[in-house]
Amino acid sequence: MTIKNICCIGAGYVGGPTMTVIANKNPDVKVTVVDLNQARIDAWNDSDVNNIPIYEPGLSQLVENARNKNLFFSTDVDKAIDEADMIFISVNTPTKTYGKGRGMAADLKYIELCARQIARVATSDKIVVEKSTLPVRTAQALKAILDHTGNGVKFQILSNPEFLAEGTAVQDLLSPDRVLIGGEQSEEGKEAIQALVDVYARWVPLERILTTNVWSSELSKLTANAFLAQRVSSINAISELCEVTGADVDEVSRAIGMDSRIGPKFLKASVGFGGSCFQKDILNLVYIAKTYDLNEVADYWEQVIIMNDHQKSRFADNIVSTLYNTVSGKKIAFLGWAFKKDTNDTRESAAIYVADSLLHEQAEITVYDPKVTAEQIYADLDYLNSRSPEENRKYVKVVNDPYEACKSAHAIAVLTEWDEFKTYDWKKIYDSVIKPAFVFDGRSILNADQLSAIGFKYTAIGK
Ligand code: UDX
Ligand code: UDX
Repeated sequence: MTIKNICCIGAGYVGGPTMTVIANKNPDVKVTVVDLNQARIDAWNDSDVNNIPIYEPGLSQLVENARNKNLFFSTDVDKAIDEADMIFISVNTPTKTYGKGRGMAADLKYIELCARQIARVATSDKIVVEKSTLPVRTAQALKAILDHTGNGVKFQILSNPEFLAEGTAVQDLLSPDRVLIGGEQSEEGKEAIQALVDVYARWVPLERILTTNVWSSELSKLTANAFLAQRVSSINAISELCEVTGADVDEVSRAIGMDSRIGPKFLKASVGFGGSCFQKDILNLVYIAKTYDLNEVADYWEQVIIMNDHQKSRFADNIVSTLYNTVSGKKIAFLGWAFKKDTNDTRESAAIYVADSLLHEQAEITVYDPKVTAEQIYADLDYLNSRSPEENRKYVKVVNDPYEACKSAHAIAVLTEWDEFKTYDWKKIYDSVIKPAFVFDGRSILNADQLSAIGFKYTAIGK
């Protein structure tokens, strides 16, 4: 079976970049990305490709290459579903905020709505691909909904989790470590798997395309994220030990990372991991384990989250205690708000929680982030419901200039590891702040010796 027409539901951080690369690499396949959010689709269609809604290095160029040739963005979901041979579901799957599994389980409301819409609209056989990260055995639920349409249309469900990381999405998509495709182990299932293998094989070497059963594929995605997050929490746990013993966490990371069994990646101590996936997927894993009464398994993974929460709160606590136990009425400058560099995504960013703690202590915060908008920062704070939107706007200022952010600050906190922070004129900043001049580097990216020589009281995680 050769795929000629692909539809992707969800024009977000996963759907948008993934489909852009698929369209670029499969010029003979029509790819339509649909979303309910009209503003988001309009932004994807903006005549200036620099205004697409997601900032990823290299993405605008790829969108420009394919847009309106074989790559389309639209809100006409029904039409795109009907035309497609293959439909990717790439809608968000947030942690449930209500009912059973609240705060832990994945909310599959949007996934189910997609399945029902596909069932209602489809008039020809379709391959439905789960791109969103889903709990194990979601495919079964999808199949049950799709198979009861009563109009004779046949569906095959594949699991094809996305492993791209934000900020490097284009690179990760162009040369993935592996592509994972799970499907039913029947004749028709294997045909569907092959159809998707063929789409990726246009640019991914075959030995990097793994095929498995559906459940292995679904569970592998959760497990990969859990392992990555666990490494960050592990090194963050060691960072606290370093601070009290006089060891340097970067030296420890380097020393253990050279052991080829451990490897050097994901060993950077930080103010805590963020992003839309790590916390959500681990909570989901914990919930699944509890559902099966595997309490030790659940507790084991939950500890990764507990450690991460601890890392965020101890960073904020350290600012307060260092500033003579009060930040009330003091200006704290935040450099960075995104959950990591090279993205405008702020979901679960440590900055949000550090800001919230400091606001509880009546601090006044001024934020500078090279890519995050003021609107987003206020939305993140409002979402916490810790105080009124008016108070958030009164006590948090967002500026477009890092020097202005730091001017007259009692302390500067680095929350995101943006490269540009390293290039600032730190002497100029020093001259403009209140003395003693404190810098709290939550990413250990600044030059400690240089800052100390200028006169800053510099502290970094794990030093
Ligand atoms: C992805 C994955 O799909 C998710 O499972 C993973 O865990 C995190 O990353 P992401 O692309 O980051 O989600 O989410 P988001 O940027 O929120 O995009 C989802 C899009 O789906 C939104 O634009 C939303 O408007 C759209 N959507 C949602 C629909 O079009 N229809 C719906 O019913 C629900
Ligand atoms: C992650 C997975 O890497 C990706 O495979 C999956 O598809 C989605 O979730 P992402 O959330 O985009 O990707 O970013 P990632 O680079 O994994 O970073 C997650 C968080 O961990 C960030 O806040 C980052 O700053 C933090 N981190 C990462 C550390 O604090 N230290 C590290 O050494 C690595």
